[in-house]
Amino acid sequence: MSTLSVQDATDADWPGIALLTAVSFGAFWQPETIAAWRTLMPEHGSVIVRDGGDVVGMTHYLDLEMTVPGGATLPTAGITWVGVAPTHRRRGLLRAMYTELHQRISDAGYPIAALTASEGGIYGRFGYGPATVETQLSIDRRFARWHRDAPGPGGVRMVRAHDHRDAFAEIYERYRRRTPGSSPRPSPLWEDLLADWDSSRGGGTQWFALLHPDGYVLYRMHRDPAKRAAVEEFTAVTPEAHVALWRALLGMDLVETITAPSHPGEPLPYLLDDSRVVRTTASQDDLWLRIMDVVAALEARTYRGDLRTVLEITDEFRCDGGRFALDVTGGRATCARTEADAEFTMDLDVLGSLYLGAHRAADLAAAHRIRGGSPAQLRSLDIAFGSDVPARLGYGF
Ligand SMILES: CC(C)(COP(=O)(O)OP(=O)(O)OC[C@H]1O[C@@H](n2cnc3c(N)ncnc32)[C@H](O)[C@@H]1OP(=O)(O)O)[C@@H](O)C(=O)NCCC(=O)NCCS
Repeated sequence: MSTLSVQDATDADWPGIALLTAVSFGAFWQPETIAAWRTLMPEHGSVIVRDGGDVVGMTHYLDLEMTVPGGATLPTAGITWVGVAPTHRRRGLLRAMYTELHQRISDAGYPIAALTASEGGIYGRFGYGPATVETQLSIDRRFARWHRDAPGPGGVRMVRAHDHRDAFAEIYERYRRRTPGSSPRPSPLWEDLLADWDSSRGGGTQWFALLHPDGYVLYRMHRDPAKRAAVEEFTAVTPEAHVALWRALLGMDLVETITAPSHPGEPLPYLLDDSRVVRTTASQDDLWLRIMDVVAALEARTYRGDLRTVLEITDEFRCDGGRFALDVTGGRATCARTEADAEFTMDLDVLGSLYLGAHRAADLAAAHRIRGGSPAQLRSLDIAFGSDVPARLGYGF
């Protein structure tokens, strides 16, 4: 890094940024896709490193807002398109760019920074903790039988995806407002999604779509070699929409397997006679959070139980940690910096993992990632940070 420096990206750098994106992630993106995402990047939201005329490092943030437990939303800097040229790796470029970018995010007043990670070992050192879990389901639909208690509400239509953008957007908007971890999806991203570029199809067909008044599914068909319906987006605002959409998917007689992204609270196994038919083939971190402003973040969400404690939060990347008095009554918190002795000690990434309720304080304490506190107080911490609505990342960025 000695002779290179971190700089603001200018318009002239974007061809270089597009090339570095392609090399970093192994795929060329449509110019229209790049243009769509750029509309979400604020001024000074991209920092790069140049070597001569080449862009050899880049990192950007999107101006997002994220729903937190209880339904409030917080301004969120969504970090994306992070890459360093293979000719310049492990020389500190990422660390230098992150130092500058997080200073900008802090100066702009974002209480939360968020990202999705290509590898699990990179971002803990920067104070990010995995905050939602995405599972992958695989269902051999030939053996799926509905439980006698499973409702059959109907109301699903087969539609052409590109004709129903406004309906999808309206349903998604309702979904993201109640789902911790989700953000609004602006028009340019809907247009890009439904443009359905060949290069985004991963070997599958164009979009197939199912639409219900309170939910929708976007899927593609694959032959590998058996017929598989690969759901890429399953959005249901009500339990009725959820079961109605699954009934439509499982009703596709000539399809052998259905794969779908989901989460640990998925109700589908309970709707079938034999829950083993729903196989979880993968489970992985999805959204990662770094709490930039502990007081603002902890006061924004609601809690599932009362708690009075002092947390010591360590931040080795920046100085956003410290000691915080947290007082939760009736689901709402007050939080303030304090000089009082700490009861619990944890790193900032652990607070990020607790924040949306997808990871439990009891499990993190068992792994010594949360230290201190009596068993009764740990139980209170564990209960308080739960979420009534399971946290999920609305869409990847
Ligand atoms: C991941 C990537 C951006 C790292 O860039 P880099 O400039 O080599 O990283 P740095 O040299 O600044 O390393 C910063 C720190 O992260 C660590 N690190 C970097 N890459 C890592 C990896 N893949 N796994 C674990 N740790 C990693 C370094 O050891 C270093 O640790 P330290 O500062 O605590 O000693 C780069 O390898 C890359 O572009 N990869 C392909 C695209 C990608 O995965 N992007 C991330 C998208 S989320």
